[in-house]
Amino acid sequence: MSSTKIGLGLAALGRPDYINIRPEAELNKSVEAFKTNALKVLDESYALGIRDFDVAPSYGLGEQFLQDWNDSRNHKNVNLSTKFGYTYVANWEIGFTGKHEIKEHSIEKLNEQWEISKALLPNLKIYQIHSATLDSGVLTNNAVLSKLHEIKQAHHLKIGISSSGTEQIKIIEEAENVSFNGEDLFDSYQVTFNIFEQSTFEILKQLLAKGKTIIIKEALANGRVFKNDTFTAYKSAYNYLEDLSNKYNVGVDAIAIRFIIDSLEPSIILSGASNTNQLKENLKALNFKLNKKEISKLKSFAVSPQHYWQERSDLEWN
Ligand SMILES: NC(=O)c1ccc[n+]([C@@H]2O[C@H](COP(=O)([O-])OP(=O)(O)OC[C@H]3O[C@@H](n4cnc5c(N)ncnc54)[C@H](OP(=O)(O)O)[C@@H]3O)[C@@H](O)[C@H]2O)c1
Repeated sequence: MSSTKIGLGLAALGRPDYINIRPEAELNKSVEAFKTNALKVLDESYALGIRDFDVAPSYGLGEQFLQDWNDSRNHKNVNLSTKFGYTYVANWEIGFTGKHEIKEHSIEKLNEQWEISKALLPNLKIYQIHSATLDSGVLTNNAVLSKLHEIKQAHHLKIGISSSGTEQIKIIEEAENVSFNGEDLFDSYQVTFNIFEQSTFEILKQLLAKGKTIIIKEALANGRVFKNDTFTAYKSAYNYLEDLSNKYNVGVDAIAIRFIIDSLEPSIILSGASNTNQLKENLKALNFKLNKKEISKLKSFAVSPQHYWQERSDLEWN
């Protein structure tokens, strides 16, 4: 029906605090409880057919949990991806008030994080720069780019970037210009794209046509696709999403994910589910198809990247 696969992102599974828009039920936030839940969700995802798993050193203990799972289950057919560039500093302190992750795109950070992440080999199939930005200079840092090229040659994996913020298009364009011996360094792009933030549509289509791997993150706009009185700009979108959810007998999450499949057809869409029930609901996106009129109506709900990313940076971590 479509070549798009759904993968699992571990952002919500590896640390006690992340972006949560709706009030949450009392959760046991101990390391043990999180580890048990993460391994359970990983096993259940695998049983549900998920083969692509994405993590980063800044997702608390997420990378460690994924490594424990990978080492103990020994599946040969999974594709793992991780990143370098952000350090988790909240140190599992519940309600930590400062920035939970600190960006550092230096060669020292790459060397340090690669030493740990390489334990995911040979199932590690994509190694990415975490939130490449123009201001960090990472896309012109020769030491970093050469090391990534060296890793690519030595381990036959794909090198990727992830992008966030209003400059996603410029970041992707700059990454496209990086090459070694006439060959592109970057094979994979992890990008935010959803009903409200569609600014990268054209460039992602071009990258897909060139055979690049396109991974979509924040497909549910961190939960903003669910009806919420705080976000007044989305009122008509919420009404329409509810109509489609009734028509197809699935949740709004499945409609939002299906919109990305039917409009963009990326390689992978990451589910950010924090439990298996959410994942099962997300996976319902694979069982139906939106029609042209519905796709074009959903396209009309995009807001400006400025609006979207300002709102994103105002979301609370809890
Ligand atoms: N490279 C980067 O810079 C970057 C940035 C962000 C994300 N990512 C990757 O992309 C993945 C997905 O992104 P994301 O988790 O931030 O965003 P998302 O997929 O837009 O949102 C996920 C959130 O939606 C809610 N949700 C999902 N299914 C639901 C359902 N059926 N019913 C109710 N609520 C549901 C959950 O919120 P609650 O927890 O409130 O229930 C969940 O945490 C991450 O895990 C990570 O791997 C990468």
